[in-house]
Amino acid sequence: MNEQIVIARDLVKTYDNGRTRALDGVSLEIFAGEFVAICGPSGSGKSTLLNLIGALDRPDSGELWVAGEDLTHSRGDLASFRARKVGFIFQLHNLIPSLTALENLLIPTLELNEPRREAQARARELLERVGLADKAHRRPPELSGGERQRVAVARALINNPQLILADEPTGSLDSKTEKAVLDLLRELHRERGVTLILVTHDARVAQHADRVIELIDGRVVIGVDTAQKP
Ligand SMILES: Nc1ncnc2c1ncn2[C@@H]1O[C@H](COP(=O)(O)OP(=O)(O)OP(=O)(O)O)[C@@H](O)[C@H]1O
Ligand SMILES: [Mg+2]
Repeated sequence: MNEQIVIARDLVKTYDNGRTRALDGVSLEIFAGEFVAICGPSGSGKSTLLNLIGALDRPDSGELWVAGEDLTHSRGDLASFRARKVGFIFQLHNLIPSLTALENLLIPTLELNEPRREAQARARELLERVGLADKAHRRPPELSGGERQRVAVARALINNPQLILADEPTGSLDSKTEKAVLDLLRELHRERGVTLILVTHDARVAQHADRVIELIDGRVVIGVDTAQKP
């Protein structure tokens, strides 16, 4: 068994001075190399949980370890943690419209001190891998929704993170494009051995994962293995 890459114990996160209890004691473990879906209805706390795992926000109480980092107590440089350990994919790609696909890929590499040439080589290789080598110099408004999401997938992988966090990554796509992006994510997860955590309210999308963790009202209600994948 691989080691845990995420360990959460009794995580609580509130908003509005405690009036909204977005996470109400979440405990879970995710193992290195897993593909896990976090599923649940709107408002159940999925994005809140993903944002804590990605060190975009801090819990009110509980314990959270991600890739060996203590995110509850650490006062360290979380920007550096995020840049080195985590790749993010959001529903609306979050690409910078005035930059080309290639330039968008290079943004996370600015956090690393490495020769530009190495970052550029990785970016070109990834664009090739997601099938966009010929569109490296297009800007997001000149790409289709599915192409933009493929750029976002490549950007999430650019720093070779241990963990990819995807929040409704196919939420704005039609069903055919959705399947293509989910297939791409699954292939990259396999090829690179990267841990993939995908948030979705859609049980059909969750079926692409090896394991589904279900949240309701800020609590984990189920964590089952979906059938063995070929
Ligand atoms: N920044 C915030 N300020 C106040 N309340 C918030 C904030 N973010 C989330 N909430 C509240 O916390 C609860 C959980 O929200 P969260 O965004 O985690 O749900 P979700 O499962 O991702 O929902 P969806 O499927 O609609 O994206 C909701 O009641 C929401 O209104
Ligand atoms: Mg959400």
